[in-house]
Amino acid sequence: MQEEHTITIPFLKKDEADLTPEEARLLKQAKEATYRSYSPYSRFSVGAAALLEDGTIVEGSNQENAAYPSGLCAERTAVFYAKSRYPDKAVVLLCVVARDTSGQFTDRPIPPCGACCQVLMETESRQTTPLRVMLYGRQGTYFIDTVKNLLPIHFDASYL
Ligand code: THU
Repeated sequence: MQEEHTITIPFLKKDEADLTPEEARLLKQAKEATYRSYSPYSRFSVGAAALLEDGTIVEGSNQENAAYPSGLCAERTAVFYAKSRYPDKAVVLLCVVARDTSGQFTDRPIPPCGACCQVLMETESRQTTPLRVMLYGRQGTYFIDTVKNLLPIHFDASYL
C-alpha cells in the first residue's frame, strides 16, 4: 500500500508600502543589523530583528569564522540572544533581510536555513503564541504565520 500526501504552505506577500508601522520598524532594525554582520568570507550580510511580546526588539546578524562551520546565522544570533536575555518573553515576529555581494538588499525574500528553522521551531514550542516570520526582499515581503509552516515535517522533543 502507498498513499501520496501533499503539504500546502500558506503565506502572505506584502509590498513594503503595505507594512504596518510595527512591521516597518522591525524591518528598519533588521536592515540596520546587516551593517553589523561579520561576513568577510561570504560577503553576504544578513540581519534579523525579533519583536518580543512586550515590544522589545532584539537584533542579530550573521557572524562568520575562518573555521566556517563555527559561524552563526543572523536568525539564531538574534533568537538565542533574545532567549538568553529574556527567557520568558515570547518572540512574536522575526524579520530577516540580507544584502548580497553587491551590497544591495536582495530582490528575493531571504529564507532561514534548515538549522535556523529547527531552532525557530523549538523557540515557538516554548511559548503559547505563534512565532510569525517576516522575510524581506525588494520584490516583496513574505509573512509566515507560524514556524510550523516553514518546517512542516520536523523533528522535536516528542520523538526522543
Ligand atoms: N545566513 C544567515 O545568516 N541566514 C540565512 O538565512 C542564510 C544564511 C548566513 C550564513 C553565512 O554567514 C552567510 O549567510 C552565507 O551563507
